[in-house]
Amino acid sequence: MTLDGTTTRTGQEPGPDPIVRLVNLHRSFGTKEVLRGLDVDFAEGRTTVVLGPSGCGKSVMLKHIVGLLRPDFGEVYFDDRRIDTMSERELVQARSQMGFLFQQSALFDSMNVRQNIAFPLREHGIAQDKREILIRDVLAKVGLIDQVDSMPASLSGGQRKRIALARAIVLSPRLILYDEPTTGLDPIRADVINELILKLQQTLSVTSIVVTHDLASAFKVADRLIMLHEGQVILEGDERAFKQSTNPIVMRFLRGEASPEELAEISN
Ligand SMILES: Nc1ncnc2c1ncn2[C@@H]1O[C@H](COP(=O)(O)OP(=O)(O)O)[C@@H](O)[C@H]1O
Ligand SMILES: [Mg+2]
Repeated sequence: MTLDGTTTRTGQEPGPDPIVRLVNLHRSFGTKEVLRGLDVDFAEGRTTVVLGPSGCGKSVMLKHIVGLLRPDFGEVYFDDRRIDTMSERELVQARSQMGFLFQQSALFDSMNVRQNIAFPLREHGIAQDKREILIRDVLAKVGLIDQVDSMPASLSGGQRKRIALARAIVLSPRLILYDEPTTGLDPIRADVINELILKLQQTLSVTSIVVTHDLASAFKVADRLIMLHEGQVILEGDERAFKQSTNPIVMRFLRGEASPEELAEISN
Protein backbone atom coordinates (compact mmCIF):
# COMPACT_ATOMS: atom_id res chain seq x y z
CA MET A 1 0.00 0.00 0.00
CA THR A 2 1.12 3.53 -0.69
CA LEU A 3 0.48 6.34 1.77
CA ASP A 4 -2.86 7.22 0.20
CA GLY A 5 -3.99 3.62 0.66
CA THR A 6 -3.84 2.48 -2.97
CA THR A 7 -1.88 -0.50 -4.25
CA THR A 8 1.20 0.34 -6.28
CA ARG A 9 0.76 -0.72 -9.91
CA THR A 10 3.72 -0.33 -12.15
CA GLY A 11 4.99 -1.81 -15.38
CA GLN A 12 1.48 -2.89 -16.34
CA GLU A 13 -0.11 -2.76 -19.77
CA PRO A 14 -3.90 -2.67 -19.67
CA GLY A 15 -4.64 -6.36 -20.14
CA PRO A 16 -7.51 -8.56 -21.26
CA ASP A 17 -10.60 -9.09 -19.08
CA PRO A 18 -10.03 -10.93 -15.83
CA ILE A 19 -11.00 -14.60 -15.68
CA VAL A 20 -10.63 -14.61 -11.89
CA ARG A 21 -11.47 -11.73 -9.62
CA LEU A 22 -10.99 -11.57 -5.86
CA VAL A 23 -12.82 -8.68 -4.26
CA ASN A 24 -12.10 -7.49 -0.72
CA LEU A 25 -11.49 -11.04 0.50
CA HIS A 26 -11.26 -11.58 4.24
CA ARG A 27 -10.53 -14.92 5.87
CA SER A 28 -9.49 -15.75 9.41
CA PHE A 29 -8.68 -19.01 11.14
CA GLY A 30 -9.60 -18.60 14.79
CA THR A 31 -8.14 -15.26 15.80
CA LYS A 32 -5.58 -15.26 13.01
CA GLU A 33 -6.52 -12.95 10.15
CA VAL A 34 -4.95 -14.39 7.01
CA LEU A 35 -6.63 -12.53 4.15
CA ARG A 36 -7.34 -8.91 5.04
CA GLY A 37 -9.15 -7.31 2.16
CA LEU A 38 -7.39 -9.01 -0.73
CA ASP A 39 -8.22 -7.46 -4.12
CA VAL A 40 -6.70 -9.07 -7.22
CA ASP A 41 -7.66 -9.63 -10.85
CA PHE A 42 -6.14 -12.39 -12.96
CA ALA A 43 -6.19 -11.61 -16.66
CA GLU A 44 -7.23 -14.30 -19.13
CA GLY A 45 -4.35 -15.99 -20.97
CA ARG A 46 -1.64 -14.56 -18.73
CA THR A 47 0.66 -16.16 -16.17
CA THR A 48 0.63 -14.42 -12.81
CA VAL A 49 3.15 -15.40 -10.17
CA VAL A 50 2.21 -14.92 -6.53
CA LEU A 51 5.10 -14.26 -4.16
CA GLY A 52 5.23 -13.87 -0.40
CA PRO A 53 6.75 -15.44 2.69
CA SER A 54 5.55 -18.76 4.11
CA GLY A 55 2.30 -18.46 5.94
CA CYS A 56 1.19 -15.23 4.25
CA GLY A 57 -1.89 -16.85 2.74
CA LYS A 58 -0.90 -17.88 -0.78
CA SER A 59 -2.36 -21.39 -0.56
CA VAL A 60 -5.41 -20.02 1.26
CA MET A 61 -5.93 -17.64 -1.68
CA LEU A 62 -5.76 -20.50 -4.22
CA LYS A 63 -8.21 -22.57 -2.18
CA HIS A 64 -10.71 -19.71 -2.36
CA ILE A 65 -10.42 -19.66 -6.15
CA VAL A 66 -11.37 -23.35 -6.41
CA GLY A 67 -14.01 -23.04 -3.70
CA LEU A 68 -12.27 -25.34 -1.22
CA LEU A 69 -12.40 -22.49 1.29
CA ARG A 70 -15.08 -19.83 1.59
CA PRO A 71 -14.36 -16.26 2.68
CA ASP A 72 -15.67 -14.62 5.84
CA PHE A 73 -16.32 -11.57 3.72
CA GLY A 74 -15.76 -10.58 0.09
CA GLU A 75 -16.35 -12.16 -3.30
CA VAL A 76 -14.65 -14.66 -5.60
CA TYR A 77 -15.50 -14.59 -9.30
CA PHE A 78 -14.58 -17.06 -12.02
CA ASP A 79 -15.74 -15.77 -15.40
CA ASP A 80 -18.18 -13.39 -13.73
CA ARG A 81 -19.79 -16.21 -11.77
CA ARG A 82 -19.66 -16.11 -7.97
CA ILE A 83 -17.62 -19.08 -6.73
CA ASP A 84 -17.91 -18.35 -3.03
CA THR A 85 -21.69 -18.77 -2.93
CA MET A 86 -21.94 -21.85 -5.21
CA SER A 87 -23.38 -25.16 -4.06
CA GLU A 88 -21.05 -28.18 -4.09
CA ARG A 89 -22.75 -29.41 -7.25
CA GLU A 90 -22.15 -26.09 -9.07
CA LEU A 91 -18.57 -26.12 -7.83
CA VAL A 92 -17.90 -29.51 -9.42
CA GLN A 93 -18.97 -28.05 -12.76
CA ALA A 94 -16.86 -24.88 -12.32
CA ARG A 95 -13.84 -26.89 -11.18
CA SER A 96 -13.93 -28.95 -14.38
CA GLN A 97 -12.53 -25.81 -16.04
CA MET A 98 -9.72 -25.49 -13.50
CA GLY A 99 -6.65 -27.67 -13.15
CA PHE A 100 -4.82 -27.58 -9.86
CA LEU A 101 -1.42 -28.82 -8.95
CA PHE A 102 -1.31 -28.54 -5.19
CA GLN A 103 1.80 -28.95 -3.07
CA GLN A 104 0.47 -32.25 -1.82
CA SER A 105 -0.86 -33.36 -5.25
CA ALA A 106 -0.16 -36.99 -4.51
CA LEU A 107 -0.68 -39.66 -7.10
CA PHE A 108 -2.60 -42.77 -6.07
CA ASP A 109 0.21 -45.23 -5.27
CA SER A 110 -1.86 -48.30 -6.00
CA MET A 111 -2.71 -47.13 -9.52
CA ASN A 112 -0.45 -46.91 -12.55
CA VAL A 113 0.06 -43.69 -14.49
CA ARG A 114 -2.81 -44.40 -16.91
CA GLN A 115 -5.25 -45.09 -14.08
CA ASN A 116 -4.14 -41.97 -12.20
CA ILE A 117 -4.80 -39.74 -15.19
CA ALA A 118 -8.02 -41.58 -16.04
CA PHE A 119 -9.39 -40.72 -12.60
CA PRO A 120 -10.80 -37.24 -13.38
CA LEU A 121 -11.94 -38.50 -16.80
CA ARG A 122 -14.04 -41.24 -15.20
CA GLU A 123 -15.46 -38.75 -12.73
CA HIS A 124 -16.66 -36.69 -15.68
CA GLY A 125 -18.12 -39.71 -17.46
CA ILE A 126 -15.74 -39.75 -20.41
CA ALA A 127 -15.90 -42.99 -22.43
CA GLN A 128 -12.98 -45.43 -22.37
CA ASP A 129 -11.80 -45.01 -26.00
CA LYS A 130 -11.84 -41.21 -25.62
CA ARG A 131 -10.01 -41.55 -22.29
CA GLU A 132 -7.12 -43.43 -23.85
CA ILE A 133 -6.69 -40.72 -26.51
CA LEU A 134 -6.71 -37.93 -23.92
CA ILE A 135 -4.27 -39.79 -21.64
CA ARG A 136 -1.78 -40.33 -24.46
CA ASP A 137 -2.13 -36.75 -25.62
CA VAL A 138 -1.49 -35.31 -22.18
CA LEU A 139 1.42 -37.66 -21.45
CA ALA A 140 3.01 -36.54 -24.71
CA LYS A 141 2.65 -32.93 -23.53
CA VAL A 142 4.58 -33.62 -20.31
CA GLY A 143 7.08 -35.86 -22.13
CA LEU A 144 6.24 -39.09 -20.29
CA ILE A 145 4.35 -41.18 -22.81
CA ASP A 146 6.71 -44.11 -22.15
CA GLN A 147 5.60 -44.25 -18.52
CA VAL A 148 1.91 -44.90 -19.17
CA ASP A 149 2.08 -48.33 -17.51
CA SER A 150 4.51 -47.38 -14.71
CA MET A 151 3.64 -47.32 -11.05
CA PRO A 152 4.25 -43.99 -9.23
CA ALA A 153 6.81 -45.58 -6.89
CA SER A 154 9.12 -46.26 -9.85
CA LEU A 155 9.17 -42.58 -10.94
CA SER A 156 11.42 -39.74 -9.76
CA GLY A 157 10.01 -36.75 -7.85
CA GLY A 158 10.14 -34.60 -10.97
CA GLN A 159 8.36 -37.23 -13.05
CA ARG A 160 5.65 -37.61 -10.41
CA LYS A 161 5.07 -33.85 -10.52
CA ARG A 162 4.75 -34.01 -14.30
CA ILE A 163 2.22 -36.87 -14.03
CA ALA A 164 0.24 -34.87 -11.45
CA LEU A 165 0.37 -31.95 -13.87
CA ALA A 166 -0.82 -34.20 -16.72
CA ARG A 167 -3.74 -35.25 -14.54
CA ALA A 168 -4.49 -31.60 -13.72
CA ILE A 169 -4.69 -30.59 -17.38
CA VAL A 170 -6.31 -33.66 -18.94
CA LEU A 171 -9.75 -32.02 -19.03
CA SER A 172 -8.27 -28.99 -20.89
CA PRO A 173 -8.86 -26.46 -18.14
CA ARG A 174 -9.02 -22.75 -18.88
CA LEU A 175 -7.23 -21.98 -15.64
CA ILE A 176 -4.28 -23.81 -14.06
CA LEU A 177 -3.29 -23.18 -10.45
CA TYR A 178 0.19 -24.22 -9.41
CA ASP A 179 1.05 -24.24 -5.70
CA GLU A 180 4.84 -24.28 -5.33
CA PRO A 181 5.32 -26.60 -8.31
CA THR A 182 9.12 -26.68 -8.07
CA THR A 183 9.50 -27.09 -4.31
CA GLY A 184 11.54 -30.16 -3.44
CA LEU A 185 12.98 -30.53 -6.95
CA ASP A 186 16.61 -29.97 -7.89
CA PRO A 187 17.29 -26.93 -10.12
CA ILE A 188 17.33 -28.94 -13.35
CA ARG A 189 14.08 -30.77 -12.64
CA ALA A 190 12.57 -27.50 -11.43
CA ASP A 191 13.47 -25.93 -14.75
CA VAL A 192 11.69 -28.72 -16.64
CA ILE A 193 8.54 -27.75 -14.72
CA ASN A 194 9.13 -24.05 -15.57
CA GLU A 195 9.45 -24.91 -19.24
CA LEU A 196 6.24 -26.93 -19.06
CA ILE A 197 4.38 -24.01 -17.48
CA LEU A 198 5.58 -21.80 -20.34
CA LYS A 199 4.76 -24.39 -22.98
CA LEU A 200 1.25 -25.00 -21.66
CA GLN A 201 0.55 -21.31 -21.66
CA GLN A 202 1.76 -20.97 -25.24
CA THR A 203 0.09 -24.08 -26.67
CA LEU A 204 -3.16 -24.13 -24.69
CA SER A 205 -3.55 -20.34 -24.13
CA VAL A 206 -4.51 -21.08 -20.55
CA THR A 207 -4.49 -18.66 -17.67
CA SER A 208 -2.00 -19.67 -15.01
CA ILE A 209 -1.57 -18.65 -11.40
CA VAL A 210 1.73 -19.84 -9.98
CA VAL A 211 2.55 -19.63 -6.28
CA THR A 212 6.26 -19.96 -5.67
CA HIS A 213 9.16 -19.04 -3.37
CA ASP A 214 11.57 -19.74 -6.16
CA LEU A 215 12.57 -16.36 -7.65
CA ALA A 216 14.39 -17.79 -10.65
CA SER A 217 11.27 -19.73 -11.51
CA ALA A 218 9.03 -16.72 -10.81
CA PHE A 219 10.85 -14.40 -13.18
CA LYS A 220 11.10 -17.06 -15.85
CA VAL A 221 7.40 -17.89 -16.11
CA ALA A 222 5.66 -14.65 -15.10
CA ASP A 223 3.91 -12.14 -17.31
CA ARG A 224 3.12 -10.33 -14.10
CA LEU A 225 3.89 -10.82 -10.42
CA ILE A 226 2.08 -9.93 -7.27
CA MET A 227 3.43 -9.96 -3.76
CA LEU A 228 1.27 -10.65 -0.73
CA HIS A 229 2.00 -9.23 2.67
CA GLU A 230 -0.29 -9.36 5.70
CA GLY A 231 -3.20 -10.57 3.63
CA GLN A 232 -3.09 -7.88 0.95
CA VAL A 233 -1.29 -7.19 -2.31
CA ILE A 234 1.66 -4.88 -1.64
CA LEU A 235 3.14 -4.84 -5.14
CA GLU A 236 1.86 -5.79 -8.55
CA GLY A 237 3.90 -5.48 -11.74
CA ASP A 238 6.44 -7.05 -14.06
CA GLU A 239 9.97 -8.25 -13.24
CA ARG A 240 11.36 -4.77 -13.63
CA ALA A 241 8.83 -3.27 -11.25
CA PHE A 242 9.88 -5.80 -8.62
CA LYS A 243 13.61 -5.39 -9.12
CA GLN A 244 13.32 -1.61 -9.02
CA SER A 245 10.92 -1.53 -6.09
CA THR A 246 12.02 0.57 -3.13
CA ASN A 247 9.46 -1.03 -0.84
CA PRO A 248 11.61 -2.45 1.99
CA ILE A 249 9.43 -5.57 2.32
CA VAL A 250 9.83 -6.36 -1.37
CA MET A 251 13.56 -5.58 -1.30
CA ARG A 252 14.13 -7.86 1.68
CA PHE A 253 12.13 -10.66 0.06
CA LEU A 254 14.14 -10.45 -3.17
CA ARG A 255 17.42 -10.44 -1.25
CA GLY A 256 16.29 -13.22 1.09
CA GLU A 257 16.91 -11.08 4.16
CA ALA A 258 15.10 -11.36 7.47
CA SER A 259 13.41 -8.24 8.89
CA PRO A 260 14.54 -6.71 12.22
CA GLU A 261 11.41 -8.18 13.84
CA GLU A 262 12.22 -11.63 12.50
CA LEU A 263 15.82 -11.34 13.73
CA ALA A 264 14.59 -10.19 17.16
CA GLU A 265 13.02 -13.64 17.57
CA ILE A 266 16.48 -15.25 17.73
CA SER A 267 18.31 -12.47 19.56
CA ASN A 268 18.16 -13.88 23.10
N1 LIG B 1 -7.34 -25.02 7.36
C1 LIG B 1 -6.66 -24.19 8.15
N2 LIG B 1 -6.90 -24.12 9.47
C2 LIG B 1 -6.24 -23.27 10.27
N3 LIG B 1 -5.27 -22.44 9.85
C3 LIG B 1 -4.97 -22.46 8.55
C4 LIG B 1 -5.64 -23.33 7.63
N4 LIG B 1 -5.14 -23.13 6.39
C5 LIG B 1 -4.19 -22.17 6.53
N5 LIG B 1 -4.09 -21.77 7.82
C6 LIG B 1 -3.18 -20.75 8.31
O1 LIG B 1 -3.26 -19.64 7.45
C7 LIG B 1 -1.97 -19.06 7.26
C8 LIG B 1 -1.65 -18.99 5.77
O2 LIG B 1 -1.49 -20.30 5.29
P1 LIG B 1 -1.07 -20.64 3.80
O3 LIG B 1 -1.99 -19.96 2.86
O4 LIG B 1 -0.99 -22.12 3.72
O5 LIG B 1 0.37 -19.98 3.70
P2 LIG B 1 1.37 -19.94 2.44
O6 LIG B 1 1.47 -18.51 2.02
O7 LIG B 1 2.68 -20.44 2.96
O8 LIG B 1 0.79 -20.83 1.38
C9 LIG B 1 -1.00 -19.91 8.05
O9 LIG B 1 -0.77 -19.27 9.28
C10 LIG B 1 -1.74 -21.20 8.25
O10 LIG B 1 -1.35 -21.82 9.44
MG1 LIG C 1 1.35 -22.66 0.66
